[in-house]
Amino acid sequence: MENVKSFEPGSITTANLQNILLTAVAPRPIAFASTVDKFGNVNLSPFSFFNVFSSNPPILIFSPARRVRDNTTKHTLKNVEQTKEVVINIVNHQLVEQMSLASTEYGDGVNEFTKSGLTEKASIKVKPPRVGESPVSFECVVDDIIALGNEAGAGNLVICKVVYIHLNTKYLDEKNQLDTEKLDLVARMGGSWYTRCTKQSIFEIPKPLNTKGIGVDKLPNHVYKTEILTGNNLGRLGNCNEIPSDSEIELHKKLPEVNKVLNIENEQLKLEQLHLLVKKQLEDNNLLLAIKTLFCL
Ligand SMILES: Cc1cc2nc3c(=O)[nH]c(=O)nc-3n(C[C@H](O)[C@H](O)[C@H](O)COP(=O)(O)O)c2cc1C
Repeated sequence: MENVKSFEPGSITTANLQNILLTAVAPRPIAFASTVDKFGNVNLSPFSFFNVFSSNPPILIFSPARRVRDNTTKHTLKNVEQTKEVVINIVNHQLVEQMSLASTEYGDGVNEFTKSGLTEKASIKVKPPRVGESPVSFECVVDDIIALGNEAGAGNLVICKVVYIHLNTKYLDEKNQLDTEKLDLVARMGGSWYTRCTKQSIFEIPKPLNTKGIGVDKLPNHVYKTEILTGNNLGRLGNCNEIPSDSEIELHKKLPEVNKVLNIENEQLKLEQLHLLVKKQLEDNNLLLAIKTLFCL
């Protein structure tokens, strides 16, 4: 039987609630935000309440929240309120420790570039400097700031329009595009956990752009009669563009490995062996073979 704990968010403490939200909504990308106050004092702090929300116009949003501890607000928020400018620097593994150091709650006017040993590089269109070590930096003007409440833990949406972009060419591929593998990005998870996007941890899911997958509902009902095919297997099979034709299936049935399975007399054993073969073909990245095998029964 399914065991689920269900409750209203107001029934637990804000600290507890924050813990659940930040552990469940993860991994989160990190905006390493560089700002200046009205006197030009520089500030640098990371924010993982962050994402991209629009490409045209190019809009990034991050949220310096009111501290759960004492309901105070952050320097970054005060600075963007005063100057309406920010540089959002992207964080990869190479600078993750220095980024973490920069999150220390230093006093007014302390420059976290200096504290973390990162390099200030002058921006082109805005006053705050960018992080020289960052693979990608977005110079932004602040379009709007939306306070989500006045209580401890309330976020403040800082809506940023990108006005200039810096890409370190070290992270580009031969087609001059940002290269996911080279970037080695990091993201924030619950507690003090992070995750790292390495060659080993990233994977691709082929998605045809111009065609629609047939859907799991169009697969033969027997997919549920064994426990061999997982939800991921069914998702991949349902992503096929079309059900194989009768003539394709007839031809496919003649393949020795398929024929061998189809000749098994015991029906349950036959189904299990067929599903195992489909699974193997999926593991070998041969979706076309797998979908034909599946439709042989
Ligand atoms: C990876 C990381 C992500 C963080 N994300 C947020 C966030 O999204 N919102 C927030 O209010 N604080 C966040 N913090 C904490 C702030 O960085 C921290 O309070 C910082 O001292 C604020 O600096 P400031 O007062 O100079 O703006 C994060 C800290 C780390 C290390």
